[in-house]
Amino acid sequence: MAEHVRVLLTEEEVDKRIQEIGDQISKDYAGKQIHLICVLKGGSFFMCELAKRITVPVSLDFMSVSSYGKDTKSSGVVKIVKDLDESIRDKDVLVVEDIVDSGRTLSYLMEMLRDRGPKSLRLCTLLDKPDRRVIDVNVNYTGFAIPDKFVVGYGLDYDQKYRNLPYIGIVEFD
Ligand code: IMP
Ligand code: MG
Repeated sequence: MAEHVRVLLTEEEVDKRIQEIGDQISKDYAGKQIHLICVLKGGSFFMCELAKRITVPVSLDFMSVSSYGKDTKSSGVVKIVKDLDESIRDKDVLVVEDIVDSGRTLSYLMEMLRDRGPKSLRLCTLLDKPDRRVIDVNVNYTGFAIPDKFVVGYGLDYDQKYRNLPYIGIVEFD
């Protein structure tokens, strides 16, 4: 099926909002060091842009997760495909995600990370689809709340395509 992408948020709008979030985070973490955790692959573009705009010291780590098969997805169990390189014990950890949809992935991930004993643990997402939430997730920083549409760009993919778009677009089928 052929598809096309309609712009939802322009590059300028996204960049401006990331600057605002970066300013807010820099204020909130004044005097501290932030350990940013990027959830691959979708969160990578957002994390790089955000990290550049944070003015307190930052360290980075990456993790990759995937949902188990359809049957167990509803239980919110996710598989760690790539775990963190470093311990997060006693660190001020900020998880950076592309989008919170049902909330299943993030609620599982945040609970697992909390068990590892960080000093603090917060969540920052570029996009949020609140209408789709199945499991409650405490989101500390949100770029944009968006309608229940399938979006791509800025790290988000459709069938591994469109991650490199510098804007957020809605996928529409012809
Ligand atoms: P959740 O566990 O349902 O919150 O799923 C979150 C994950 O689903 C995100 O990290 C994305 O990888 C993917 N996802 C959810 N909505 C979209 C979308 O609109 N476009 C691309 N990926 C999405
Ligand atoms: Mg993701």
